[in-house]
Amino acid sequence: MCGIVGYTGKNNAREILLKGLGRLEYRGYDSAGVALAGESGIYIQKKKGRLKELDAKEIPSTNIGIGHTRWATHGKPSNENSHPFSDCTGDIAIVHNGIIDNFIHLKEDLINKGHEFTSETDSEIISHLLEEHFNGDLVDTLKIVVKMLKGSFAICALQKDSKNIAVARNQSPLVIGLGVGENFVASDVPAILDYTNEVKYLEDGDVALLTPNEVRIWDSQDALVERDVVEIQWTIEDAEKGGYEHYMLKEIHEQPKAIHASLLGRLGGFTEVDLGKYDTEFIRLISCGTSYHAALVGKYLIEDIARIPCTAELASEYRYSSPSELHPFTILISQSGETADTIAAAKEAKRRGCKTLAVTNVMNSSITREVDEVIFTHAGPEIGVAATKTFTTQVIMMYLIAIELGLKTKRLLRETAQEYRDELRRIPRHVRVLLDRSEDIERVSEKLIGADDIFFVGRHLNYPVALEGALKLKEIAYIHSAGYPAGELKHGPFALLTNRTPVVAISVKDHTFEKMLGNIGEIASRDSPIIAVGDHDPELEKLSDDLITVPSVPTLFSPILVNVVLQLLAYYTAYKLECAIDKPRNLAKSVTVE
Ligand code: AGP
Repeated sequence: MCGIVGYTGKNNAREILLKGLGRLEYRGYDSAGVALAGESGIYIQKKKGRLKELDAKEIPSTNIGIGHTRWATHGKPSNENSHPFSDCTGDIAIVHNGIIDNFIHLKEDLINKGHEFTSETDSEIISHLLEEHFNGDLVDTLKIVVKMLKGSFAICALQKDSKNIAVARNQSPLVIGLGVGENFVASDVPAILDYTNEVKYLEDGDVALLTPNEVRIWDSQDALVERDVVEIQWTIEDAEKGGYEHYMLKEIHEQPKAIHASLLGRLGGFTEVDLGKYDTEFIRLISCGTSYHAALVGKYLIEDIARIPCTAELASEYRYSSPSELHPFTILISQSGETADTIAAAKEAKRRGCKTLAVTNVMNSSITREVDEVIFTHAGPEIGVAATKTFTTQVIMMYLIAIELGLKTKRLLRETAQEYRDELRRIPRHVRVLLDRSEDIERVSEKLIGADDIFFVGRHLNYPVALEGALKLKEIAYIHSAGYPAGELKHGPFALLTNRTPVVAISVKDHTFEKMLGNIGEIASRDSPIIAVGDHDPELEKLSDDLITVPSVPTLFSPILVNVVLQLLAYYTAYKLECAIDKPRNLAKSVTVE
């Protein structure tokens, strides 16, 4: 996720920019850069990789500058594609967040006028447009340029031998930090919170000028306007959590946005990967932990939707299994892209002659270098150790892959594929409805406090969701819990059922619903408290102690919604038990050792 910081004042701009960009690191990025304006020109230092590798000390420091961390969209992560960008003369430099939809046309035009480009990005056109239309005043010129842009942008621009920063915002956040004899601008508050807690949020269409002693803002009608001064009450750490008490809760709430981002541009098929070119007689999904549960959901989806035989395997088991005659198309799933077992499994699959695809959330991660193709989930950075939005977006990818394969094998009708895609488009809205009912789920979580053991049961597509619900609870609330296919309890675990072993029973009205009611009846007769999660049904209501309903969707799409309930159930249980929710004991965000 891209980040912006700008500074003009009396202090060392380089240090302020680097510290600010550091505050945004948790959001994830693949390259970083700064531009400092001096009397003799603009000094730019930018590089692919981490901020600490930037060697910013190689350029002189001044009292005015702009900085950027980039999360690649147009053009791969590289030194050339990193921000800031300068114009042909080197007298102007810009940083940009967002996407300029009409950049191709603008770029062609600029090239015809003799401008030379150094990157593949959409952003670079902005510095050249400023050069092309420069009228002696940077902020005035920026007002002209933003009128030419279609898309989303947060822009900061500076020019040599000037103390002015010109900025503009449209659908991409930008906040101005107010100081004494100095002013700041940033994409996100944490970047400037070390220096000031008085800010002005720009609105869409605003253009502003920052000097060390003044901030002037014009709205989209070019009228000089005042924006309210807001006093930020958060600490740095709070701010990075966006006001939520824990990253996990923030990330649970970010899911509608994350799902939307992962679907963006893909509802008509993947543009980045042509699944049609692979032999998909048989598919193998490989992963660990929560990603394995996404793989299990994927197995059901690929079998149900595309009618292709599919297995889901744990990476730590696969890598030591015996090779067979078969060379299935192998999909590795890892949110971090750094899990040692999954990377080793990717290498092993390749060694065995399989074509490989990685589904990951992190650009440039190790797994992307081990596979033939990559699909990114675009969930945004996930800080909480417990995977939430990354799981949800992995499952979204499983739907998209299953639909794509179903069309390829012609076992899925085009009209049905369209219905499925329409249903996926509606999922963020349904998740929002559930999040708005968090208080009900919080109330039910009381029932899990003090339990000896907790079972999570489900069938078919919701069996992996039961596994995931149990893992989440173990991980953050430190309560022993186990996920089971509902039909399996009677083959052993029944012996453990007492009134101190609550059972979370996922019950949606699919082809297994009647059987599920039977299973719940059996559990109820052993006195275990039952928390049902699923569809509204009078019989189910009678059998269970609590029923948390999910918005009504075709049952094929129920796993995502049910899982949001289980995430919140785990969260609130852990919260009440005062556990270290974001950093559970003994666990790490990415397991880079075997
Ligand atoms: C999830 O909550 C866990 N932290 C863990 O099981 C995780 O899913 C597993 O380590 C796999 O990680 P990956 O997706 O980054 O490969």
